Amino acid sequence: MKYKVTSGDPTGLKTPCLVLGVYQESKLSAAAEAIDQAADGAITELLRMGDLEGKVGDSQFLYRIPGHQAGRLLLVGCGKKSDFDRDGYRKAVAAAAKALKEAALEEATLCLPEIKAKGTKKVQRTSDAVIEMERTLYRFDSCKGKAEKPRGELKKLELYIGVDGSLDKAEQAVQEAQGIAVGITLARDLGNLPGNICTPSYLADRAREMRKLSNKLQVEILEEAQMEKLGMGALLSVSRGSRQPAKLIVMEYRGGDDKQKPVVLVGKGLTFDAGGISLKPAAQMDEMKYDMCGGAGVLGTMRTCLELKLPINVVALVPASENLPDGDASKPGDIVTSMSGQTIEVLNTDAEGRLILCDALTYAERFEPDVVVDVATLTGACVVALGQHLAGLFSDDQGLLEELREAGELGADRAWPMPMGSEYQKQLDSNFADIANIGGRFGGAITAACFLSRFTKKYPWAHLDIAGVAWLQGKAKGATGRPVGLLSQFLISRSKQAK
Ligand code: BES
Ligand code: MN
Ligand code: ZN
Repeated sequence: MKYKVTSGDPTGLKTPCLVLGVYQESKLSAAAEAIDQAADGAITELLRMGDLEGKVGDSQFLYRIPGHQAGRLLLVGCGKKSDFDRDGYRKAVAAAAKALKEAALEEATLCLPEIKAKGTKKVQRTSDAVIEMERTLYRFDSCKGKAEKPRGELKKLELYIGVDGSLDKAEQAVQEAQGIAVGITLARDLGNLPGNICTPSYLADRAREMRKLSNKLQVEILEEAQMEKLGMGALLSVSRGSRQPAKLIVMEYRGGDDKQKPVVLVGKGLTFDAGGISLKPAAQMDEMKYDMCGGAGVLGTMRTCLELKLPINVVALVPASENLPDGDASKPGDIVTSMSGQTIEVLNTDAEGRLILCDALTYAERFEPDVVVDVATLTGACVVALGQHLAGLFSDDQGLLEELREAGELGADRAWPMPMGSEYQKQLDSNFADIANIGGRFGGAITAACFLSRFTKKYPWAHLDIAGVAWLQGKAKGATGRPVGLLSQFLISRSKQAK
């Protein structure tokens, strides 16, 4: 979609549809107020009659109102004026997007970014408007036999930022947000694809094809034979039971100075997790196609880097594999040797994410990383601990932890600090190998993070467990594109500091 930023007198805005914010208790936003005055109180009258309450999420089209240049008006509820915050703002934008979509409008002017919301600035509201629009209008129909063609699709949206205000700054915010939205969309598309299409080889092809977007990007795919040579016994133990060969996707983006150490992003790319011999129960097993959402998030973030040409060096590593039961699959009790040399007793083949990640984390050493951040749909326990709203954030590096937490706040893609420590590390003791791949019933998200920490001694490292946030269940089932918002903000902030 095309975006344009605009300002000035709202009664002079020429558009097929002018979207105006109204509050509960018949209060109006500044633009709505201006139109109301020119229209002899038509909007106040409607609110007074109670046809629209003005709660967040409410919307109502109005036709044939005088005093402006728009084809129609769309009123959007903003809730109580004193309560209006970023969350309410984003929901109001989403409600506008939904109404515009249902009416099949192709163009509109959104007067929401001008409206003050607690704890926000205008540039952030401008960028949030773009991301929330793209999020709401997203469709995934590439697997439908014949996709329903919508009557009309929004093609152009003007963002009204008030009577005055810096168009330059707002335009920059729009451009940045569009770059992030492209990354989020890629992550959602990859996540939503079924396991029979989105295999490790498919992910590798999609990574390879990104090469044409920039000559600063190199892509290499490590095959199982190369993994064997490198001693990646942990990763290979997971793909044993699968007919699809594992791949290790290696992408190097050199947007920054030659001497600058890279940020290394590692994403779990488990394209289908049946659990292996420790087979999962049947209910909702289809959702385990989303077990590659860490990898998709890393590819999406790379896409954002390319789109925004960020002046920063980034390496993306995506170990990709299936986890299936088979006569040749790894068995509970098997002991494997990781690339680091540490031996692992595989007590549960369903704790496979950490096995593919640990070898990728050892491989990361060769890039002499400034920091390494891994993202993974790693544990059901994390979903129990934090629910489906915040990702789990683990790091012994307080600076890095805070940096990532703040990036999450900025990107409206929040993560919450979780502990690690020697008490938990002890749960991973094995009688037969250097370490066990599970740590018992309690603190499962933490012991999983502790397992990974054993392979990250050579650089500052953080881990995001996105098991609860990478996809939605039920009627709205689908990938969310998280944590592309968080990771993109992390890299954007870093590239601004480097300048
Ligand atoms: N991919 C799953 C984690 C998961 C489960 C994410 C459900 C989202 C929803 C992971 O590979 C896994 O199976 N983890 C096990 C670990 C256990 C065996 C220690 C889990 O969480 O049950
Ligand atoms: Mn598993
Ligand atoms: Zn898994």
